[in-house]
Amino acid sequence: MGNSYFLGTSIPIFLSLLFLCDFVNGLGVNWGTMASHRLPPKTVVQMLKDNGIKKVKLFDADSTTMNALAGSDIEVMVSIPNDQLLAMNSYKRAKEWVRRNVTRYSFNGGVNIKYVAMGNEPFLTTYNGSFINITFPALQNIQNALNEAGVGDSIKATVPSNADVYNSQKNNPVPSAGRFRHDISGLMTQIVEFLARNGAPLTINIYPFLSLYGNDDFPFNYAFFDGGNPIVDNGIQYTNVFDANFDTLVSALRAIGHGDMTIIVGEVGWPTDGDKNANIANAKRFYNGLMPRLAANTGTPLLPGYLEVYLFGLLDEDVKSIAPGNFERHWGIYRYDGQPKFPMDLSGQNQNRYLIAAQNVEYLPQKWCVFNPKANDLSKLADNINYACTLSDCTALGYGSSCNNLDANGNTSYAFNIYYQVQNQNGMACNFQGLAMETTQNPSQGACSFIIQIDSSTSFVGPPVTRMIIFAVFTFLLLLSRTRIP
Ligand SMILES: *[C@@H]1O[C@H](CO)[C@@H](O)[C@H](O)[C@H]1NC(C)=O
Ligand SMILES: *[C@@H]1O[C@H](CO)[C@@H](O)[C@H](O)[C@H]1NC(C)=O
Ligand SMILES: *[C@@H]1O[C@H](CO)[C@@H](O)[C@H](O)[C@H]1NC(C)=O
Ligand SMILES: *[C@@H]1O[C@H](CO)[C@@H](O)[C@H](O)[C@H]1NC(C)=O
Repeated sequence: MGNSYFLGTSIPIFLSLLFLCDFVNGLGVNWGTMASHRLPPKTVVQMLKDNGIKKVKLFDADSTTMNALAGSDIEVMVSIPNDQLLAMNSYKRAKEWVRRNVTRYSFNGGVNIKYVAMGNEPFLTTYNGSFINITFPALQNIQNALNEAGVGDSIKATVPSNADVYNSQKNNPVPSAGRFRHDISGLMTQIVEFLARNGAPLTINIYPFLSLYGNDDFPFNYAFFDGGNPIVDNGIQYTNVFDANFDTLVSALRAIGHGDMTIIVGEVGWPTDGDKNANIANAKRFYNGLMPRLAANTGTPLLPGYLEVYLFGLLDEDVKSIAPGNFERHWGIYRYDGQPKFPMDLSGQNQNRYLIAAQNVEYLPQKWCVFNPKANDLSKLADNINYACTLSDCTALGYGSSCNNLDANGNTSYAFNIYYQVQNQNGMACNFQGLAMETTQNPSQGACSFIIQIDSSTSFVGPPVTRMIIFAVFTFLLLLSRTRIP
């Protein structure tokens, strides 16, 4: 009796403790590096560890990043950028790539590489077919090279594709009508068959935000997970576009006889600036819907269960192309400097807590560059703003963005400051033909943040003069100490 009473209460407590400490299953993050000032890779890896994030997707195989990941046990998807896919059509080059960027790290304490991504959304319609003929040969060569190197059982090549590689019929827009896009259906079938033969997953990026972006007819709530108007398809209720989109892919796979293919969601997320729908409140709502579903292994109606998902993205990237829209530079769950933007609970329980920030980040001094109200010749103002914004990130000034409410002087100051910060607060970068001045008073207003950049002089850009002086002094001391020894 005593024993069974003990067991009867402790097991549920034990289980709930387990659940409480649990981390969303299969969760990874995309770590992009299109930033003017990057956090040191070791700082980022420590941040991943501090938050219990065990999977990361990279957009290249940069050796500094890889060395920082070595010994961490974090599972890594490395990538071959689109512009290197053609080179990988040579098997010799593919073997060389695998040797330099994969097997080189296969040692005890090395990097836990799980996947090699072939390009990034190479079949996107906006690329006009540029990569259509070269991606599949590259995929075959890399997987074959992995197999030949003896690591093919644990490391799989995959093609991260945009959700535009499949669709449902125009006159029957339901998930069950999903098929691969007409112009590439033969190619996608070949790729899926190759992936299946090698036990590799299909990787798809799904963006509910983009369904909403630029489409004012899209039902707003359907972009989130907490109750949009359901669409009924063969008796299944779809309440959000993520499920509907994912199941459109499942149907496309079933239609070619591969309904059991493993699917990875390579990118999913919500930006926080640069569009009227890109803000903290919407991002929080989106993730607060996504996380509990991942924790509970809900899956989708056609594929319930575990789902491997990589959030896009880890950090804001201020030099990312804004061709798709101003929001592109604001996808981070962290700001550019490794500060979390909003509460996010990776155990999937929506507790109101923040992710752990990057530690020991070094910033430039607390100085800003602003419009000088005493300036009297304003004729060159527009040219100077234009110059500043061409060479730095002014996307926060746009319609619906965090700094859209500034007055004309505020706009000018924002542009001058963001340029000055990109230029590492170089005094010469705060002149603008006499229109600007430096200040130690923070000009931020409400949600509009006038940032201070990271001090990356120790790791990346850095004034070369300083490094040369340090090097010269060091060499001098070294010579001095040597001459004394004998
Ligand atoms: C390895 O990856 C890096 C970074 O993506 C790339 O620049 C380099 O060309 C690759 N090495 C080979 C041998 O292809
Ligand atoms: C694709 O074609 C369009 C129209 O011809 C062109 O404007 C665009 O620059 C092309 N894009 C690429 C990536 O080649
Ligand atoms: C791809 O190959 C097909 C068939 O050989 C050819 O018609 C097409 O022009 C090629 N596309 C590109 C972008 O090279
Ligand atoms: C500030 O700049 C933004 C973006 O260029 C513009 O939409 C807005 O009208 C400007 N505001 C003023 C007061 O000039």
